[in-house]
Amino acid sequence: MVLFEKAPAKINLSLDVLSKRDDGYHNVEMIMTTIDLADRITLRSINRDRIEVSLESRFVPSDERNLAYKAANAFKQKYGIKTGVHIHIEKSIPVSAGLGGGSTDAAAVLRGMNRLWKLDIPTSELATIGATIGSDVPFCVYGNTAIAKGRGEIIEPLSSPPSCWVVLAKPDIGVSTRTIFQRIQVEGLSHPNTSAIMDALRQKHFHKMCAHIGNVLEDITLAVYPEVQRIKCRMEQAGASGVLMSGSGPTVYSLVEHQSKAQRIYNGMRGFCEEVYLVRLLG
Ligand code: C5P
Repeated sequence: MVLFEKAPAKINLSLDVLSKRDDGYHNVEMIMTTIDLADRITLRSINRDRIEVSLESRFVPSDERNLAYKAANAFKQKYGIKTGVHIHIEKSIPVSAGLGGGSTDAAAVLRGMNRLWKLDIPTSELATIGATIGSDVPFCVYGNTAIAKGRGEIIEPLSSPPSCWVVLAKPDIGVSTRTIFQRIQVEGLSHPNTSAIMDALRQKHFHKMCAHIGNVLEDITLAVYPEVQRIKCRMEQAGASGVLMSGSGPTVYSLVEHQSKAQRIYNGMRGFCEEVYLVRLLG
């Protein structure tokens, strides 16, 4: 039995940090939405009780460090499954980019294994397993548009954003989420207006959404990596309005209402940055 599962990337419409926790993590509020830039996961049952991961990427390991491997392992242990699985990952989402690439692969493996062995496990339970793999995995299990709270494991679905285009530009660096979080000084952060974004989503109000998107990690990453700042400025010069860094970076995105303008911004960024994408919001 073979099945395919789409693993879409996410962008943060907001990322707020509320407090530092005793377990070393931070309490966050993040509005995330999925975009039409996806890895493709193929799952196949194998007779031997083992987990195999294959992928062609210089940047992602195929052993037990891979989040997809970890997800398969956690799933098999939790439900006592003795059948093995081969996981093939066709990567399209850039790695260490702030787009949840590893997390969405792990989430797709959880959804896919549930289907592969016809277990009918509720999504909320898959998300609970996902939380043991990484803070963004629970959101990725649900997909669409949601606000994530706590460490990232408390998920409340939200209305989908007004339909628009997304131009993404990723400078040629990888960012460690841990390193960026370590630099946060919670006191003195200027917090995004999360409820205004939620209102904008409910009202499908494109300009209001763009006016309120915000990410408290942006200033930290921009200070460490000036190339991210340059990309941000360049996008704004190209006429983009809703411009923000996603996650802990380094990918910067712009929300654009009309395709022709999105195409212009995309063309403008391509001469400036190697990895540029033009996609639609899915969420
Ligand atoms: O959960 P995940 O392994 O993706 O998190 C990577 C790192 O980001 C953690 O080790 C932690 O330093 C930081 N983090 C945090 N608070 C969160 C999520 C992540 O401090 N809510």
